Amino acid sequence: MEIGKVGVVGCGLMGSGIAQVAATAGFETVVREVSQELLDRGSASIEKSLSKFVEKGILSSEQKSQTLARLKPTTELEDFAECDLVIEAVIENLDRKREVFAALDGIVKPEAIFASNTSSLSITEMMTATRRAPQFVGLHFFNPVPLMKLVEVVKTVVTKPEVVETALAYGRKVGKTPILTSDHAGFIVNRLLVPYLLDSIRALEEGVGSIEDIDNGMKLGCNHPMGPLTLNDFVGLDTTCYIAEIMFNEFREKRFAPPPLMKRMVLAGMLGRKSGQGFYDYSDPKNPKPNNRLVK
Ligand SMILES: NC(=O)c1ccc[n+]([C@@H]2O[C@H](COP(=O)([O-])OP(=O)(O)OC[C@H]3O[C@@H](n4cnc5c(N)ncnc54)[C@H](O)[C@@H]3O)[C@@H](O)[C@H]2O)c1
Repeated sequence: MEIGKVGVVGCGLMGSGIAQVAATAGFETVVREVSQELLDRGSASIEKSLSKFVEKGILSSEQKSQTLARLKPTTELEDFAECDLVIEAVIENLDRKREVFAALDGIVKPEAIFASNTSSLSITEMMTATRRAPQFVGLHFFNPVPLMKLVEVVKTVVTKPEVVETALAYGRKVGKTPILTSDHAGFIVNRLLVPYLLDSIRALEEGVGSIEDIDNGMKLGCNHPMGPLTLNDFVGLDTTCYIAEIMFNEFREKRFAPPPLMKRMVLAGMLGRKSGQGFYDYSDPKNPKPNNRLVK
């Protein structure tokens, strides 16, 4: 199946990036927000990101203008009617996502493919809100979308093979390396990453090492660009805790259970970099200091 026109539901952090890479790759792209104010904000972030690519010499000014000309921002789902692929990037809430897909199912042409950018929810549970289960996949992009090279393509037990092939090809056309996975909570990347992030917190709780020593251990011993406690702060403890709960509910294995320290930090509003406090104190953002009092 050929993809010509792409629809993106949501122009937040992820939706704006997903729309940007689609338009940059040459697809006519409709992107929808719930209000004009959010749409203007999302469109401005796309414009800013494209300008950075021009400054770095990756895109020409002409390519930027052509990309923007291919983008149609809207507040109406009806504008998705002729899309061949619709990618949903609204908040991580199953009921909201099911509502969006049920509405789209009555609007978008029947042969179109639907995809969700969810990080942790079940693609199968979203798919059942529509009458096009064989044409439903996950397309899990990473943040920031214009820079990150990976997209996870998620198939369910009923996805048609040609739909999987089209989704993989779409990932390549927007400049990503697609990897294929099945509909299990966490897919490939979070399945491996989340237990690692949680285990670094358990290591801290159990006194295996200090915050700095745990981070330096993985940075210098494994050549990771940042240590796991820094990465916890970067992703947001609330986000990882939420994903871990979903994975624990699915697999019932201790390795996916959020450790008590993490739950208490989330309750106390210590969410990491975005709240100014996490495993590090970001009062001086350029020089974070380990919050050693956490385990004393
Ligand atoms: N942030 C990340 O690093 C990341 C990475 C991969 C995947 N994701 C997934 O992408 C999706 C979007 O996340 P985000 O970070 O872009 O969030 P965001 O908060 O930046 O954007 C959320 C979007 O949802 C829309 N929205 C809110 N309430 C709605 C409703 N009731 N009905 C319809 N739309 C509604 C908002 O208008 C906005 O467009 C989530 O499923 C998230 O799990 C996020």
